[in-house]
Amino acid sequence: PRHLLAAGDLDRPTAEHLLDTAARIEQAIAGREVRKLPTLRGRTVVNLFFEDSTRTRISFELAAKRLSADVINFSAKGSSVSKGESLKDTAWTLQAMGADAVVCRHSSSGAPQQLSAWVDGHVVNAGDGTHEHPTQALLDAYTLRRHLGGLQDRRIVIVGDVLHSRVARSNVLLLRTLGADVTLVAPPTLLPVGVSDWPATVSYDLDRALVGADAVMMLRVQQERMQGAFFPTAREYSRGYGLDGRRRDLLAPNGIVLHPGPMNRGMEITPQVADGANSVIVEQVTNGVTVRMAVLYLLLSGSEGAL
Ligand code: CP
Repeated sequence: PRHLLAAGDLDRPTAEHLLDTAARIEQAIAGREVRKLPTLRGRTVVNLFFEDSTRTRISFELAAKRLSADVINFSAKGSSVSKGESLKDTAWTLQAMGADAVVCRHSSSGAPQQLSAWVDGHVVNAGDGTHEHPTQALLDAYTLRRHLGGLQDRRIVIVGDVLHSRVARSNVLLLRTLGADVTLVAPPTLLPVGVSDWPATVSYDLDRALVGADAVMMLRVQQERMQGAFFPTAREYSRGYGLDGRRRDLLAPNGIVLHPGPMNRGMEITPQVADGANSVIVEQVTNGVTVRMAVLYLLLSGSEGAL
């Protein structure tokens, strides 16, 4: 494919090729003083962000720079979008400037797909509404693979605000494609309609789901996407669905804790667990750069076996 729009579009060989490519890139730059490859010299990557981001935007910038591409960072705030310019006109403007790839984050589900119909370059979905965040799922799968050896039949528990989470959907789809067994745990009010059609088991009992699991992924409670009152209350949420040390210790020996960030410390995860020995949250960020290098490399280099 020319674009990376959804984790659900990836078949197992493609996803594994991408993760293997990330591993090769990690090896290629390990221990080097200059952590840069010349592969995308002369190519232009545009970060087109209509929604706030720390990790995804910076890691795509770093990934493109480490492949020697030129990078343009465009955020809707401070651009002519604030004067009413449409996504389509914005896309054509970027195309006229010779963008080879556009990395797009947008609050509307489907915006990157729409964009892919308007530009000649490659489009990468950096998170669209409540739909998908495929590179987050890829970096999570990469992190899980490094720690668990492989994903086949591994038990992964995803906990929290599934209703508003593009991370949850992308992870369920990709982890299932890679052979893992996924359980979703959430209060009934934070599960989307149709979740029973997702390739995952749904549970309301966090303690029971965590016993012997290989990994737990905590989701951010997205209060900015909740209109009006948030139910359950923050205190009830932490009691029923927050990860503390007691719950973390229900995991299998060497079980790991993930969170895509940004975290609500003290709500979905205690600071002690977030910063504890089994936490791979900081490593997820590091792996995000490597995995995004692999995505840009495979899409833009035109090399054999590309995405
Ligand atoms: N995980 C994630 O997408 O973080 P940002 O919103 O900071 O990019």
